[in-house]
Amino acid sequence: ELTLDTKKTGAPVQSTMYGLFFEDINFAADGGLYAELIKNRSFDFPQNYMGWYLSGNVELRKDNPLFDKNPHYVVLSDPGHPHKRTAIENEGFRGIGFKANGTYRFSVWAKTSGTSESQRIRIDLLDSKNEIITTQKIDITSPEWKKYEVVLTSKLTDAKGRLRIFLDSKGSVALEHVSLFPTDTYKGRENGLRKDLAETLADIHPGVFRFPGGCIIEGTDLETRYNWKNTIGPVENRPVNESRWHYTFPHRFFPDYYQSYGLGFYEYFLLSEDMGAEPLPVVSCGLACQYQNEREECHVPLNELQPYIQDALDLIEFANGPVTSTWGKVRADMGHPAPFNMKYIGVGNEQWGDEYVVRLEAFTKAIRAKYPEIKIIGSSGPSADGDKFDYLWPEMKKLKVDLVDEHYYKDPEWFLKSAGRYDNYDRKGPAVFAGEYACHLPNRANNLKSALYEAAFMTGLERNADIVHMTTYAPLLAHIDGWQWRPDLIWFDNLSVMKTPNYYVQQMYAQNAGTNTATLIQNGTPLTGQDGLYASAVYDKEQNCYIVKIANTSADSKDVKITLTGLKKQAAISLGDCTELTAGNLEIENTLAEPSNITPQKTTATIDGSTLSVKAKGFSFSLYKIKL
Ligand code: AHR
Repeated sequence: ELTLDTKKTGAPVQSTMYGLFFEDINFAADGGLYAELIKNRSFDFPQNYMGWYLSGNVELRKDNPLFDKNPHYVVLSDPGHPHKRTAIENEGFRGIGFKANGTYRFSVWAKTSGTSESQRIRIDLLDSKNEIITTQKIDITSPEWKKYEVVLTSKLTDAKGRLRIFLDSKGSVALEHVSLFPTDTYKGRENGLRKDLAETLADIHPGVFRFPGGCIIEGTDLETRYNWKNTIGPVENRPVNESRWHYTFPHRFFPDYYQSYGLGFYEYFLLSEDMGAEPLPVVSCGLACQYQNEREECHVPLNELQPYIQDALDLIEFANGPVTSTWGKVRADMGHPAPFNMKYIGVGNEQWGDEYVVRLEAFTKAIRAKYPEIKIIGSSGPSADGDKFDYLWPEMKKLKVDLVDEHYYKDPEWFLKSAGRYDNYDRKGPAVFAGEYACHLPNRANNLKSALYEAAFMTGLERNADIVHMTTYAPLLAHIDGWQWRPDLIWFDNLSVMKTPNYYVQQMYAQNAGTNTATLIQNGTPLTGQDGLYASAVYDKEQNCYIVKIANTSADSKDVKITLTGLKKQAAISLGDCTELTAGNLEIENTLAEPSNITPQKTTATIDGSTLSVKAKGFSFSLYKIKL
């Protein structure tokens, strides 16, 4: 028996309350969201032919480069033997996914080499049996670099295809920046995003989009940190960088994990705009990943921090500056004269120690001086549950950051017992950004159990929306053949996408975030695990309805009665949409082959006078709209 107080309108729920955390981990960017199908397209990985198979006469060159930051290119020449041929083949990202009737734009920068006579190359899409799916010829007509393009149509579906470029004439051609994109990208953009993945992100209705990570912001060392300035401008000249996830744990090694930066800061801002989410870039604070206390060479000395701070200031100008400003002009030249209206910046990812605090202080001073309207997000360290990193909160308060980024990858028990985590947080200090969290089961599964426990915990986020202003599950994306970390919100292969039960929990919250908190209590206290039940409610002023969310973590179904108190006498309430996420047992998960084992379904409840009666099934998360 619960009561829902309708008299008092609670604190506003921020539009940023439920969002997305994007990091290029698990092949989330190259090989994932970024729709480019060619790995090492500019031959500038340290092993220049990584991802490529060669036959015949192929030479790697970097003299007179066309793109100074990606200088390498190849020259294909006739082998001068009647039985030999020259060709290069690219393996894509664990294969190239082709769809029947799908169209693919091949492009390459090319010139004839050592001859002014026109040369010919043949472009083959290959299936996983090495058979040609389709082919087209391109004449390379000039000894000057030019971009050539053809569109190829696949007649079959194959997740593990390849691309071959075959020299079809007797001379030599130079090739640079070999690219293959599906023409059907998200919003139809040329340097675009994989449509199914981007739509899956947008379908959550995220209120905030944090990018570009995670640990990759910091890099394995300072040299490989994420430098946003390398990720803008023409894609051909964005220098390749090693991924932090190139090296993961001792037993997993990803030698081919690099960042092309084809998906860079401009594209991240654009995606935020497309999704209606506030962009939240996070910048390096001058400490490399996880080395704060160990390796001096991974700290930028304080007296050398200025360029890093300047990068942050320039980023704000890039996002928001007028077209007449230096960086605003760069944005405009890339196709977006209007500002992106960035409001938040994160400084440092998951840092700790005094090394972090002094650096954050320097950033904060500079940003506040130039852009007082920008909200600054500091960090509470890797784990914010009563361990040694908790001491950063007082430091964050002293610095008066606007939000503190907390991360918790915790076991199921933690998630259940922490639903009241924010009930007694200080209301006067910075707000909370739950920037990375996920329920980690011993087998790290994305099953109903982890999803349900997250849903239960999230009732506490919702109840405390006056202080919790942003929340983002992590990590977001994982390629089934190239992951380093699990669980993840969305899994994919080269052709399809699988939404986890955890995804649906996020979506149910985000699509039903409401506009104000509401007081839902049982005998004066919120439901935080009594009898296995967790519940919270919000009011939505646009729809004039209450939305009640209930997580039942026990095996038995439970009858829950919710009486609305304080209703105006004559007010009649009625039932709106009701949705539940449940399955026969906690271990059930979705797979790429069976993506619909658990999906939200319509459910119902009854209303009698001012009381809502709900049967919350065993192991279920459900929500109920009550219209006024
Ligand atoms: O989400 C995976 C990693 O976990 C992030 O890169 C890092 O911030 C955290 O340690």
